[in-house]
Order: sequence, then C-alpha cells, then structure tokens
Amino acid sequence: MTRLDAPIVAPLVARALIESDAEPIQAMFESDPAYFELTQGAPPGPAELQSLVTALPPDGDRGYEDKFLFILLDGEEVAGVVDLIRDYPTAATWYLGLVFLTPTQRGRGRGRAVLRGLYSWISAQGGTALRLGVVEGNARARWLYASEGFVFQASREPDPTVKRARRVLMLERSL
Ligand SMILES: CC(C)(COP(=O)(O)OP(=O)(O)OC[C@H]1O[C@@H](n2cnc3c(N)ncnc32)[C@H](O)[C@@H]1OP(=O)(O)O)[C@@H](O)C(=O)NCCC(=O)NCCS
Repeated sequence: MTRLDAPIVAPLVARALIESDAEPIQAMFESDPAYFELTQGAPPGPAELQSLVTALPPDGDRGYEDKFLFILLDGEEVAGVVDLIRDYPTAATWYLGLVFLTPTQRGRGRGRAVLRGLYSWISAQGGTALRLGVVEGNARARWLYASEGFVFQASREPDPTVKRARRVLMLERSL
C-alpha cells in the first residue's frame, strides 16, 4: 500500500470500502438512531449506507473520482467510516462529508486521531484546507472540531430537499 492509498489513523486502520462492508456499516448506523434523529430528524433508513455511497455535493461539479469513502477498522471490527470530497467547494479545499465512529469507539481520542490522519493525507495530495458541516446540537463533534482549530464560516438553515433537518454550521481549518 502506498502512502496515498488511505490515511493513517492509528490506532484504527482506514481502507477503501468493499462490497462486503455494506452490511456491517449499515448495522453500525442502525445501532445509533440518536445521531440520525439529531441530524436528519428521523432514524436511519434501510439504505443509509447506499445514500452515503452515492452522495455528491449538490452543485454537480464534483464526480466520484473526487469522492473518497473509507471504512475504519479496529482489527477485524468495523469502527467507523469517513467520507471526503476533494476540491470542494473550491480547489485545494477538501470537504469532510462524514466522520462516524461506532458508539463503542467514541470518547477515547479516536475521532481526534482520525482527523489528524486526514490532515496529513490531504496535505500530501496538495489540499490546504478541510471544510465540514456540523449540526448545531452535536456538542461532542463541535467540541472536537473547535479544539482542533476549525473556525466558523457560515450557517445553513434546515432544508428538507437535502435531508437537512437542523441548522448546520460550516467550519473550516487550514492544513
Ligand atoms: C464526533 C466523533 C467522530 C468524535 O470522535 P470521538 O472519538 O468520540 O472523539 P474524541 O474522543 O476524539 O474527542 C471528543 C472530544 O469531545 C469531548 N466530549 C465528549 N463528549 C462530549 C459532550 N457530550 N459534549 C462536549 N464535549 C464532549 C471529549 O472530552 C473530547 O475532548 P477532549 O479530548 O478535549 O477531552 C464521534 O463521537 C462520532 O462518530 N459521533 C457520531 C457521529 C458524528 O457526530 N459525527 C460528526 C458529524 S459532523
């Protein structure tokens, strides 16, 4: 594996998704209805992973060649997923569509380790900033991002056409 294949997110391991990951990832999402209630206003649907696999930014400028979806593993166990879009919304800015750890992996510094692994991996490919949206009420994620130096850029109001049930804060960090 070369340096660029996947970010180094020790103690977890990241690799590109394969078909057999679908079932355990969907099960992981279904194990945390509270997150989906918080962000989408409803529990996870049966095609939650499929929606993630096909999700691209709404403006149509980016394609699947710019989308990087990784599974995070703790040994053989599924520990989470990360979804990234390259050069969105502008060149050299990467967009973190989702970082999600399975509930038993949380609160042990692993989310922070994943973010730090992403910074290096993205920088190595010429990215100079990481942008993301966080639901206003997601206290743990907001704490993590604030303590990692992400800065508020703008807010997005709820919009059912893009499954946005709550106000989302757009944050960005230079790499
Ligand atoms: C958000 C997420 C990736 C963070 O990963 P994590 O491994 O749980 O986070 P870490 O343990 O690395 O760090 C979390 C920080 O938040 C703090 N924290 C924990 N619970 C908190 C709470 N309820 N309110 C505020 N801060 C909290 C922790 O103390 C820690 O800060 P510290 O290192 O200064 O002590 C993970 O919790 C997750 O997958 N959540 C569900 C999905 C999600 O919300 N994704 C983000 C979408 S934008």
